[in-house]
Amino acid sequence: MRDKITQKTFNPLALEKKIEEDKQGMAYSGEGEGESERLAYIETYGCQMNFSDTEIVASVLKEMNYGFTTEESLADLIFINTCSIRENAESKVWNRLRSLRQAKKQRPDLLVGVLGCMAERLKVKLLEQEKLVDMVVGPDAYRDLPRLVSEAGGGQKGVNVLLSREETYAEIAPVRLNTNGVSAFVTIMRGCDNMCTFCVVPFTRGRERSRDWQSIVNECRDLVENGYKEVTLLGQNVDSYKYHDEETGENCSFAGLLEKVALIHPDLRVRFSTSHPKDITEEVLYTMAKYENICKYIHLPVQSGNSRILELMHRGYTREWYLNKIKKIREIMPDCGISSDIITGFCSETESEHEDTLSLMKAVNFDYSFTFAYSERPNTPAAKRMKDDVSEESKKRRLQAVIELQNIHSKESNLREIGKIRKVLIESNSKRSTNDFCGRTDQNKMVVFPKKEGLNFGDYCLVKITESSSATLKGEICV
Ligand code: 5AD
Ligand code: SF4
Repeated sequence: MRDKITQKTFNPLALEKKIEEDKQGMAYSGEGEGESERLAYIETYGCQMNFSDTEIVASVLKEMNYGFTTEESLADLIFINTCSIRENAESKVWNRLRSLRQAKKQRPDLLVGVLGCMAERLKVKLLEQEKLVDMVVGPDAYRDLPRLVSEAGGGQKGVNVLLSREETYAEIAPVRLNTNGVSAFVTIMRGCDNMCTFCVVPFTRGRERSRDWQSIVNECRDLVENGYKEVTLLGQNVDSYKYHDEETGENCSFAGLLEKVALIHPDLRVRFSTSHPKDITEEVLYTMAKYENICKYIHLPVQSGNSRILELMHRGYTREWYLNKIKKIREIMPDCGISSDIITGFCSETESEHEDTLSLMKAVNFDYSFTFAYSERPNTPAAKRMKDDVSEESKKRRLQAVIELQNIHSKESNLREIGKIRKVLIESNSKRSTNDFCGRTDQNKMVVFPKKEGLNFGDYCLVKITESSSATLKGEICV
């Protein structure tokens, strides 16, 4: 069977890593397998937002009386939730769709649909040129699935790629299909208005809109009532969250939302992703510092360490401004984990500008970075106005240099943990041994440690860190 998340192995950190490794397909398994007449199989590629969207799609399908299977051969309906962020993410999905052609030939009743960013970007090609799918459904059209599935079942193509300025799926309760019962994603906003010149997201996911804070708090409260211990608030740019409550006249900022979620229960850990350096406010930092249960970890993508390149990328900050932001974070929260995204070989980047990225990395000392060679995306501002003129060879070489430096920093960051006592939320058994638990520290570092009687998934414990490698920490429970 394909790589999939199972109840036991799921954890958001592993997921994050997998996602950024670009990009394993993952199948969602569901409760109630075999109970319903019709079965759906959903495979998800891309970012955490896509995984969260798949839970919305599952909710709509459940209302349509679909059950879920991890066996693609048992499914009446196959959905592939797709990612367009880099060319190789799309290539994987094309290969996957072509591999499904055979299954469709053998089982003419099988319906195959493409969801998400590629549906939005490549509607015509998917339907007409390649004729691989029965449904093409953009990220804002999941409420329309009953009609689209019915049209496709009747032999027509089911198509809806309309982007919305309002859709947040606020009141749709996601079906948590593949969960460890400990951590959940909660989408707080959709779309992005930033228009970073390299990025396809504003075109595939549309304009930014924030979800009603009350529905977010209600969803988090339900999770707590169902035994969950950690929520990750998701958005393309969570720091620009803003919601105006018509009834009370109250405006809620991201800092305000963080506080409301943190106050739900002191044992609920609160995480969030992704932050934009130009938008993260001191109010957010002080709110993080104020509440013990808001995790001290920020993913703050820098993309480049050179101010000219940052301007070409339309990031809205300079190298110095970013470094000041890091200084502020560390002043307010000295122990805060910080990670980044870095792109090498953006249009016209010179060797010395690439060196600036390395020197910024040295100045910051990121605990972790997700690193990418620039991949031109059709119709983005960079594709329209700039030349993709750094050779593939240089992009890859620069990427390798960034990866090597990050590996050193990650290793050092883990070494600094040795001897410390960290509060860990137990998430699952370790992959290697059922005698060990694994869970993460506040700073988002994975720790593996021998089990202790009386403790189980979802419990907190204090772990003394005893060993480290570049990827994981080992430790022993002290309380
Ligand atoms: N090429 C390479 N990397 C990209 N990213 C976004 N668009 C591109 C692109 N065209 C990276 C950015 C972003 C992360 C999610 O993906 O670093 O922060
Ligand atoms: Fe893309 Fe920039 Fe928006 Fe992130 S902030 S989704 S990189 S446009």
